[in-house]
Amino acid sequence: MSSPSPRLSTAVTRLLNIELPIVLAPFGGLSSVELTAKVSQKGGLGSYGLYGYDADRIAVTARELSATTQQPYALNLWLPLDGSEEVHATDQEFAAYLEVLRPYFDELQLPVPSRPASYLPSFDDQMAAVFEARPAVVSFVFGIPPAQVLDRAHDLGILVIATATTVDEAIALNGAGVDAIVATGSEAGGHRVSFLRAPEDSLIGTLALVPQVVDAVSVPVVASGGIADGRGLAAALVLGAGAAQIGSAFLATRQSAAAPVYRTALTSEAARRTVFTRALSGRLARGIPNRITDDLGSSEVAPFPIQNWLTGQFRPTAAERGIGELMSLWAGQGSPLIAHADAEQLIDALILDARMLLG
Ligand SMILES: Cc1cc2nc3c(=O)[nH]c(=O)nc-3n(C[C@H](O)[C@H](O)[C@H](O)COP(=O)(O)O)c2cc1C
Repeated sequence: MSSPSPRLSTAVTRLLNIELPIVLAPFGGLSSVELTAKVSQKGGLGSYGLYGYDADRIAVTARELSATTQQPYALNLWLPLDGSEEVHATDQEFAAYLEVLRPYFDELQLPVPSRPASYLPSFDDQMAAVFEARPAVVSFVFGIPPAQVLDRAHDLGILVIATATTVDEAIALNGAGVDAIVATGSEAGGHRVSFLRAPEDSLIGTLALVPQVVDAVSVPVVASGGIADGRGLAAALVLGAGAAQIGSAFLATRQSAAAPVYRTALTSEAARRTVFTRALSGRLARGIPNRITDDLGSSEVAPFPIQNWLTGQFRPTAAERGIGELMSLWAGQGSPLIAHADAEQLIDALILDARMLLG
């Protein structure tokens, strides 16, 4: 059995060359340069989610990050499922998917969109732009990074982190040669990034998952899911993780790119109940329920990434206008613990409380 180290200097901080055992979660579509750089500047690892970004946007973002912090940061990508990202819909199918969502476009007085040439940028182009940017760390969700990606990253001196929702996934990632593994429990906000079994069959809580992953793999482990205060951070370290990857609590800070209505929801009574839903993206994700999840929760929605693209045509407008009922409000089960509106204060409190608890 591995022996957990209850100190703040851990295998993860040493591997990543960071001071504090805190990883800012990447937020696909909602990361901000300000928050990512702030967490890295404070001694944690800031991560930036590149979901949906094309190569040019990745290059611009990486330049902004590197201009804002000299400290290590991570760029995060979603791997294409089963090696192919193209899901096709016929004109007829596309029209049928759109019909279900038409009331929301009408309500926001937006035109319904036409079918795009593709629903996502090419993964290979994204990867090439990430390698060009040479971040200290690249992190992945939804699978095992291909061997040529791992080899190229290592040739360039880039560390590779990948994400497991089960012990079997962690073992598979360890075997593939990643440098560290995020073990993410089912409390986590956002998508359930399972890749060996259906996400519904991969629902293990952080408390049970982390020590099992620590025992099963030979690389450092980052705990994620439901961690929002110093007690959670201390618990993650005692379970044998070398850091905590924290999402919802950072999303609620003023440095995040979340719309004010979203930040308010995260710290309101509404966050006491989160649900799993496919309604917004076509993939299972945890968030605060709203009119969309209620309306579409039990009906057939378009497959990912089509549903995500379709709702992505009106969600930003809803966010701008403060209409939380028509947005994705991803949130973890620890959201009611959120107590800080500033990222620096959150980090200070996490470290102070964890230090006190760990003695
Ligand atoms: C709005 C939102 C977007 C997310 N997007 C991503 C993403 O693009 N890539 C990723 O690796 N994780 C993503 N996550 C998951 C986080 O990395 C992390 O595992 C999760 O937030 C941890 O749970 P917590 O919210 O309870 O702290 C996202 C989470 C949220 C809340």
